[in-house]
Amino acid sequence: MAMTTRVYNFGAGPAMLPESLLKEAQTELLNWHNLGVSVLEVGHRTSECVALLEHAERTLRELLGIPSNYQVLFLGGAARTQFAMIPMNLLYPEEQAGYLVTGVWSHMAFSEALRLKRAYCVASDEANQYKTIPDPKTWEFKEPTSYIYYTPNETINGIRFPYIPKTKGSTLIADMTSCLLAEPIDVTRFGLIFAGAQKNIANAGLTVVIIREDLLSRIPNPPIPSMLDYKIQAQHHSLYATPPVFNCYIAAKMFDWIKAQGGVETLFHLNCQKAARLYQYLDSSDFYTTKIDKEVRSLMNVCFSLKNEKLEPEFLHLAERAGLYALKGHRLVGGIRASLYNAMPMAGVDALIDFMSEFAKEHSR
Ligand SMILES: Cc1ncc(COP(=O)(O)O)c(C=O)c1O
Repeated sequence: MAMTTRVYNFGAGPAMLPESLLKEAQTELLNWHNLGVSVLEVGHRTSECVALLEHAERTLRELLGIPSNYQVLFLGGAARTQFAMIPMNLLYPEEQAGYLVTGVWSHMAFSEALRLKRAYCVASDEANQYKTIPDPKTWEFKEPTSYIYYTPNETINGIRFPYIPKTKGSTLIADMTSCLLAEPIDVTRFGLIFAGAQKNIANAGLTVVIIREDLLSRIPNPPIPSMLDYKIQAQHHSLYATPPVFNCYIAAKMFDWIKAQGGVETLFHLNCQKAARLYQYLDSSDFYTTKIDKEVRSLMNVCFSLKNEKLEPEFLHLAERAGLYALKGHRLVGGIRASLYNAMPMAGVDALIDFMSEFAKEHSR
């Protein structure tokens, strides 16, 4: 239905952005930096654009405490390009990598690695339909292992690692697409972190990569396309090809916004409160249910269902009419999913809970 005002967008990505940021971009769109042209029209090697990328990188480094021996790359393209770039760059033909398969995204990354190089599964909860993270005591490591790959937040299944996995000395690689900047991290524990922008960073089409410099000294074997080579991208400071400038512009604004909110620690505190309020409501209800183990519930993507699944289409229809947008669960798992990224205010969670209790009351009679 047509909406004349903005609604609460619970979509998993592309996701809600702060309204103040969108308004700023709107105001600046026709004339950026008094250049008389839009940021969409500016050459990527102009001093303004280079300064924009430098500002984005500086702020991101500050927000996450990224040490100087890590490079930050702003790459064009989808997050899943990294599923291929990681094994192509970091595995020699005789080497192998271990994958923790805790949901749809890590499963897809594992399958892609298998297509290209040697990879094995350290642990998987697929047989259990991804309800939990297998006990680390059951994980099987092979010697030697070049890197261990995992997905700290599985966006589709709603599963979050409440700890950083131990790797027996192997380099750790993390797909933080749906959790980067939502909670503090110790970057030094990772060899490589990547995140598609479309959740907590910017509009879709940009992927941020944070890579430890020693990993850039490897010469990919067999040779790989230049565009997919981390070293070439790093040598050119993300300007090897034309980068997604508008996405970087939105990302820079998002990083500034996060800083203005008090930083990642402050947002993490708020994110914990938002998720806790919704899970508390779900746990207290006979009408809704969630199957994910309590210890591993996602802070960003709260997945649940109605006990009477036949009511879900009506739930989604009425929710949208009430200004609660994009609550439908991913097509692979069904049900309902409320994504609570950084830009979602507590008022959005409260509005959702009010709607859910009203709906439950109406349909329990
Ligand atoms: C954790 C995670 N990894 C990877 C992806 C894939 O992103 P893209 O569509 O940009 O390839 C997503 C998308 O939602 C995701 O949530």
